[in-house]
Amino acid sequence: MEKIKLNLGCGDQIVNGWLNVDYSVGARLAKIPLFPLINKKLRLLNLDWNEKILLHDLTKKFPWSDESVDEIYSSHTLEHLDKNQGDAFLSECYRVLKKEGIIRIVVPDLRAFVDSYVKGELLAENFVKNLGVLYEEQGDSSLKRRLAPLIRFPHKCMYDTERLLEIMSLIGFDCQSTEPFTSEISDIKNIELPERTVEAVIVEGKKR
Ligand SMILES: C[S@@+](CC[C@H](N)C(=O)[O-])C[C@H]1O[C@@H](n2cnc3c(N)ncnc32)[C@H](O)[C@@H]1O
Repeated sequence: MEKIKLNLGCGDQIVNGWLNVDYSVGARLAKIPLFPLINKKLRLLNLDWNEKILLHDLTKKFPWSDESVDEIYSSHTLEHLDKNQGDAFLSECYRVLKKEGIIRIVVPDLRAFVDSYVKGELLAENFVKNLGVLYEEQGDSSLKRRLAPLIRFPHKCMYDTERLLEIMSLIGFDCQSTEPFTSEISDIKNIELPERTVEAVIVEGKKR
């Protein structure tokens, strides 16, 4: 039987052999016939969202049954959920994973940003910007500022390796911190983006 593999919060990255899941406005618009074509011409959205993305709001109960999924990969998505939503998301991952199923979570590393700032490698304003918690960006028009809560998706929680390991262990995962591309996921090279592993926490675990 074919494995069920979930790429949760895929963005515009569609990976073959995975169910690529997202709920962005772009992914939803891409389901409208001809929208992707029109967008290519008019550049209404700056990303080409794929109409094959499986739409699901990851703050809600997952549409997969208990112990039905083989592998879960989620890169730079957990930090867009608030702490309670993030805990619920990880618990849902636990519920749907089969025993011995693999989960791999990649998030920005709060400690790396703090270390750079403390070492004087980051200006104060760039430290705050790098945290990704702001709705507004310098140079935003007044319209963009007003629309910010609708078009910007700042980080709502941040993690370091120790804390993510603790949270995932409490949920029941047997997990450890790991290096980019070191994984039991056989096609990790297809799904892991090198640039997403820089200054990142990478935790891989199993449901026991
Ligand atoms: C920073 S992007 C990461 C994209 C890709 N995984 C990567 O590493 O480049 C975060 C993605 O999470 C998605 N996302 C955030 N909150 C979500 C939610 N509640 N349900 C589904 N997707 C969500 C966003 O739409 C966005 O595509």
